[in-house]
Amino acid sequence: MVGMNMLEKISSLAKRRGFIYPSSEIYGGIAGMWDYGPLGVELKRNLKAHFWKTMVQERDDVVGIDAAIFMNPKVWEASGHVEGFTDPLVECKKCKKRFRADHIIDGSERRPKAELKQFAKLVEEVHSTEEIKCPETGCSGVLSKPRQFNLMVEANLGAVEGEQQMAYLRGEITQGVHVNFKQVLGSTRVKIPFGIAQIGKAFRNEISPGQFTFRSREFEQMELQFYIKPEDKEGETWFEYWKKARMQWYLDLGLSKDALRFYEHKPDEQAHYARAAFDIEYKLDDEWKEMEGIHHRGDWDLSRHNEFSGEDMNYFDDETKKKFIPWVIETSGGVDRAVLFFLTDAYEEEEVKDGETRTVLKLHPKLAPYKVAVFPLLANKPELVKLAREIYDDLKSEFMVAWDARGNIGKRYRAMDECGTPLCVTVDFDSLDGKDVTVRDRDTMKQERIKIGDLEAYVRGRVDG
Ligand code: GAP
Repeated sequence: MVGMNMLEKISSLAKRRGFIYPSSEIYGGIAGMWDYGPLGVELKRNLKAHFWKTMVQERDDVVGIDAAIFMNPKVWEASGHVEGFTDPLVECKKCKKRFRADHIIDGSERRPKAELKQFAKLVEEVHSTEEIKCPETGCSGVLSKPRQFNLMVEANLGAVEGEQQMAYLRGEITQGVHVNFKQVLGSTRVKIPFGIAQIGKAFRNEISPGQFTFRSREFEQMELQFYIKPEDKEGETWFEYWKKARMQWYLDLGLSKDALRFYEHKPDEQAHYARAAFDIEYKLDDEWKEMEGIHHRGDWDLSRHNEFSGEDMNYFDDETKKKFIPWVIETSGGVDRAVLFFLTDAYEEEEVKDGETRTVLKLHPKLAPYKVAVFPLLANKPELVKLAREIYDDLKSEFMVAWDARGNIGKRYRAMDECGTPLCVTVDFDSLDGKDVTVRDRDTMKQERIKIGDLEAYVRGRVDG
């Protein structure tokens, strides 16, 4: 792995061990799409389950919903996405590849909105006096002038040609919550301040998807829309509260403190709906990258839906007898980006002895795909295999458990290290008489003997804490 950056190391491990594969690779793949393999799906499910437990189940002031991906297209007019969800794009006239105009200048990821326009203008100016060549290796084509490109993905619904209805695949999961604000109020006992959480897929026609799963065209978001009274003081308080809470959420799951920071959006960097915005960023390969946005959306969404739908989106306060359009504090995290950063943060190459190295994923046990692996010391000894299999079957009803009886024990440990499995249980000849097994810790590589009867409680204590 010498000479590779972390993103390259992780994408290689992710494929090798079954975390993430390029989508439909047997047909050459498709840009910006990824499939989660047997280990990846467990990691992703664990992350989402933890989000739901901590953000919905354990709170009195948050409920959850699961809205449809397709919505009435008017939703996206009201939300401002039809008009404002655009990036400047240039296209190579020869190879037909498309690039974000500002990426042509210096490849930078973060660009204030105003600056983005300036870059597009700059490209346009340069374009008027000289030809700008395509940056693709081996292509000497000329780039087109920049034009605004909407990131919403369109689809046609309906079986009858000519009568099909154009609909958008949602560009953010947020609007599914806001259009249901009144339904949730009417069908539950929530009172402001309260939140609605959701996890689900979003779709964007990213001009240049890349950096593994970081910029995809189909991805998952985990969000909270938290409704508050339209008062400055309270708004600031809740905004600060959620900023702190969400940063702590990542720290509690083991992300390195040094690799995390807040980035405050300058006014000209903010999305069309935001009054204030902070990103939780993760540092990968010396570059700070956005993982989650904490946005003060003010009354943007409900006011716009109030106006465009004609439905009254006001909230009636029983105590003050006043009605108002609530403000919204949003926490919007990317599931795929979080998975990516948890993987890169957990990745370590350690020298174990005399120049021999091991690759280990020191994932938080809550996130680890397998909590424990069970092996017979020797695969050709039926009495060891039988007892190991019994232990495996017992643990399986409680935890995700890996079984491995191939190769030598050292190789099995190394494989489980790369999968991020916190514990490995080995059944040996002493287990047959002593009714105990060896449990090896992924991070310290220390081994201890645990009674088979105590094993389930021991594993629970180690992985559920
Ligand atoms: N509802 C607000 C919203 O969608 P956003 O900053 O556009 O805000 C929120 O997106 C999060 O979704 C980002 O912080 C990022 O983690 C994730 N995300 C956005 N675009 C993405 C993409 N193309 N690929 C993967 N994740 C993406």
